[in-house]
Amino acid sequence: MTSTFEIDFEPIGKRVEVAPGTDLLDAARQAGIGLASVCGGEGTCGRCRVVIMAGNVTPPVDADRRFLSQLEITSGQRLACRCQIYSDVKVHVPKASLVTDQRLQLDGQTRQLQIDQTIHAYEVEVPPPTLHDLRADLERVIDGLETAHGLRKLSAEPAVMQALTPLARRTDWHLTTYIRRHEIVGVAAWGRRPLGLAIDLGTTKIAGYLIDLETGEELATNGIMNPQIGYGEDVISRLVHADRTDEGKHELARVVREGLNNLIVALAFQAGVAQEQIAEACIVGNTAMTHLLLKLPVRQLSVSPFVAAASSALDVKARELDLEIAPGAYVHLLPGIGGFVGADHVAMIIGSDLDRLPHAAIGVDIGTNTEIVLHRPHEKYLTSASCASGPAFEGAHIHDGMRASTGAIEAVRITDDGIEIKTIGEAPGVGLCGSGIVDAIAEMHRTHIIDRRGRVQAAAPWVRKGERGYELVLVPGERSGTGREVVITQQDVNEIQLAKGAIWTGLETLIEATQTKLEDVREVIVAGAFGSYLNLESAIRIGLLPRLPNATYSQVGNAAGVGAKMALLSHKERARAQRIAQRTGYVELTTQPGFNRRFALSLLFPQQT
Ligand code: FES
Repeated sequence: MTSTFEIDFEPIGKRVEVAPGTDLLDAARQAGIGLASVCGGEGTCGRCRVVIMAGNVTPPVDADRRFLSQLEITSGQRLACRCQIYSDVKVHVPKASLVTDQRLQLDGQTRQLQIDQTIHAYEVEVPPPTLHDLRADLERVIDGLETAHGLRKLSAEPAVMQALTPLARRTDWHLTTYIRRHEIVGVAAWGRRPLGLAIDLGTTKIAGYLIDLETGEELATNGIMNPQIGYGEDVISRLVHADRTDEGKHELARVVREGLNNLIVALAFQAGVAQEQIAEACIVGNTAMTHLLLKLPVRQLSVSPFVAAASSALDVKARELDLEIAPGAYVHLLPGIGGFVGADHVAMIIGSDLDRLPHAAIGVDIGTNTEIVLHRPHEKYLTSASCASGPAFEGAHIHDGMRASTGAIEAVRITDDGIEIKTIGEAPGVGLCGSGIVDAIAEMHRTHIIDRRGRVQAAAPWVRKGERGYELVLVPGERSGTGREVVITQQDVNEIQLAKGAIWTGLETLIEATQTKLEDVREVIVAGAFGSYLNLESAIRIGLLPRLPNATYSQVGNAAGVGAKMALLSHKERARAQRIAQRTGYVELTTQPGFNRRFALSLLFPQQT
């Protein structure tokens, strides 16, 4: 009897051996393939489509029939999470089912970074041991540092000693030491500069920056998809997985830590430096991501009143997080505000300098959870809210939605002559990414293909009756990258209404709770990856962002990444983050009076101007 079967994932070319009865989503995770799985394998999102090319698998179930037509099932298409294997299997993974290859927004606005961190590099040259000088290696180096640099009361942990002994002999006792206050946190060969690592740990993406701690120079930048995505694209699926068993918690921490180490290897390689030169790190993430990284309990996070296990700033040893950088290095985690409003929001405020603006301003970071902050210069407090806008802007729950990768439609224009699209990589259209969906809906609204309630008009051009009601055919099958039409269904319009309604409700509630006059708001700052590609006029047209009479609008890119770099380099910025976390009020939207009515009204599209 065969105890394992081989799964061959094509055209990726990855193979993995798994036990009989393993489902294909699990096999893909084991093979390290980022198969889209918004629902985390519950069979409710329909994103994990694959095609069985050869081999025996379990027959289709209701979930398959819900998302796939009979023709698609007959041609071998299946939901990977509902399909168990019973022989060697060959599977084709369509591009649209992959979460890799995504356009990652890493950069924020360039700015001068303040440097006042406490990692200092000291070079030291000491005589090797002899029969007349039997001092131990660490004491020898500590004595050398005192003699050459006047440093006193130095200490080091065993992990640093383990690195010191072989290195000292390899380098003939010419060393660079990295010192944080009175602690030697790392050792490297003579002349190697101390480096820092800033990480923006997002639910979908992880951005990493390698920085020279003495000059602030950015030596390398890189981004990866958060490998936890295989356990669900939304935060809640991952929290559920982590909460179910102890193993689940360890698994989610392990995959993200492995991802971070891969990112560290890539950054060090890009910059041509050694990983042990990284003497300090700073990580910012939303509350859930930080909890999963630190293996903190998560049950209380997913039920009302949504309380974090800890939200203050933390300094933890990098090795406690299994990060392969200098053996004694610390990781600084910025503080969070409350509920799901985490350190990434604080970093976004620092990174965009929103708290220092001389006028009233709104900051919006649009994602699966959208964080909004209102700053008023004469008030002591900032006010934040978190809106459950859902993953529609990431292409999930949208019939032909996909992430921002090659072939994704990112802009749409409807004219009398037809529908013009712009795709990423100028490839034939495969599906719609977030900015494309917003653009398409805005154009449908402008050209009256949908009414204020979002109803697709049966008599409008390019509209037809499909299996799921009226839908707009954006790209006909013969011009698409898959041979299948790309459509916007009535359900898609409704999904976008829910998402934009959640954000609008949050904005309105914040403005009302703080008794701010709309005309007083002078600036709207749109941060984050999705926000940087968004067509602002389209976003305003559908009511995703407000049209404010005196405000300028700016797109600042990954401001949370900029905030992480600032906090990496400066203790003053860390203290500023602490102050922001303490003096930012949090408005829980669902408990506000009139929330339901406000939300219902926010689903309407604005009046045409
Ligand atoms: Fe398979 Fe959601 S339906 S992962």
